[in-house]
Amino acid sequence: MTEQNKTPPDKTEAWRLLTAHQQQVADLRLRDVFERDPGRAKRFSLELEGLFIDFSKNLITDETLSLLLGLAEECELEKKLDELFKGYEVNNTEKRPALHTLLRAPENFSLFVDGVDLSRQVQDDLDKMFKVVNDLHEGQIKGATGKAISRVVNIGIGGSDLGPRLVDEALSEFRHDSIEIDFVANIDPFDIERVLNCANPETTLFIIASKSFTTPETLTNANRAKSWLIENGCDDTGKHFMAVSENAAAVERFGIDERYYFKIRDWVGGRYSIWSCIGMIAAIGIGEDNFKRFLAGAHALDSHFRSAEFNKNIPVILALLSIWYNNFFDVGTHAIIPYDQKLQGLPAYLSQLVMESNGKSVNADGSRSAVNTSQVIWGGIGSNSQHAFFQFLHQGARMTSIDFLLPLGSRHDPGRHGMLAANCFAQSEALMQGKTNHSEPHRNFDGNKPSTTILYDQLDPYALGMLLAVYEHKTFVEAGIWGINPFDQWGVELGKKLAERIFREFEAGGINQSHDASTASLMNKYLSKTNRPRTD
Ligand code: F6P
Repeated sequence: MTEQNKTPPDKTEAWRLLTAHQQQVADLRLRDVFERDPGRAKRFSLELEGLFIDFSKNLITDETLSLLLGLAEECELEKKLDELFKGYEVNNTEKRPALHTLLRAPENFSLFVDGVDLSRQVQDDLDKMFKVVNDLHEGQIKGATGKAISRVVNIGIGGSDLGPRLVDEALSEFRHDSIEIDFVANIDPFDIERVLNCANPETTLFIIASKSFTTPETLTNANRAKSWLIENGCDDTGKHFMAVSENAAAVERFGIDERYYFKIRDWVGGRYSIWSCIGMIAAIGIGEDNFKRFLAGAHALDSHFRSAEFNKNIPVILALLSIWYNNFFDVGTHAIIPYDQKLQGLPAYLSQLVMESNGKSVNADGSRSAVNTSQVIWGGIGSNSQHAFFQFLHQGARMTSIDFLLPLGSRHDPGRHGMLAANCFAQSEALMQGKTNHSEPHRNFDGNKPSTTILYDQLDPYALGMLLAVYEHKTFVEAGIWGINPFDQWGVELGKKLAERIFREFEAGGINQSHDASTASLMNKYLSKTNRPRTD
């Protein structure tokens, strides 16, 4: 069991000082401080193995940073970080550690928790997965009619979908050609039918990715895939399914053989699971070596997070900036804008990572949080977003904190890449500098809008691993400061229960009187359209 915050964050001395300091810097003009301080850009940037973070366009001074670092100290961040990596029960409501960092530790690393060598388990799980990945590439895995599998469909949702989907798309330039890949997540039947319509049952394999193996969306889609196989003469469906899950019994009941069952351990949270066998579909796409490079990139970031001084620590600095805006400027939203087409899935992935982790209003000790927690994470790719919601960023009445992301190179036309980079830099410059126009207020740009720019050499497996680990640890640091548990997600339970109940009522054709009038009327409208019995 880990220790909770001894003092709520807003009762710390650092919080009090930061509140007063915010008043002092409220009038800070970024363009002026850049003029006065030629060393600012260099001082407020960090670099690690090709990852470059420029956080100088933020509404901070040296004093802001030192006060924020003081807050981290008062909230005992160092101790919390140690507890995370050592496998303490940091997920206190589910009574387990959160050891996603172990999934990307080097092969010779060893971590015993309660006498069990968890690192050995990780290596065994990955070895089993890579064996099948390689067999698939070599055409050795055959379907019911003896034909080699050439298309693999991942059926999963949330963390069992967003991470694998993001990595597959982000690293599409590293993909093996031998296997086609698809994803199905939604309970909306359109999603799976779209995939089945263009698949050949004889050569298609489904990976059911579900830690719990009870998620209705995933199981409904898996059952539909099974019936489709049978309808199309592939009766020996066991040859067309693999599963990644913690729930071995349910996997067996579904009819999946032990050799096609891959484990995810209970100490890996869904949204932190891309590094585990949940990443199998991505590993099939890019192959064993590239997947290992992806893990290695994340591990490099883990080592940095663990060992770098907090004033030079990328996830710590990014988290403190986010606390600064969120808790002291009341900035409720944070936009993720990758100038990298292949990262178009990043905002959705980070929405789950951050908001499912930190969208809490109860502290880890059960008391009510007195401060704002997760910002809303949203975004879209540049330059497309410039022609969509950037009006809001430039002239809207609300401030948004922003991360711009840009690769320094591209395998494609360097000239066009230059245009992309120019757009990225122009946006952060325009947001910060603004442009005064007194005579035509609609053409006036206030400026002083903060942003951070993250550069990386190329979007390769290593760089992607680093990037995702940055955001995981940033999320952890925020939670540590607020004193909340980022590793549970009880908030999703109630809606799931009610959906089950409403669906049972649809099936029975009768609406329970206990629904409120709005829900009852919506349900009746639905039933009348689908020609089912109504209650009124
Ligand atoms: O409902 C939320 C959630 O539990 C997520 O945390 C998780 O990533 C997703 O559903 C899928 O869960 P599973 O992998 O158990 O199907």
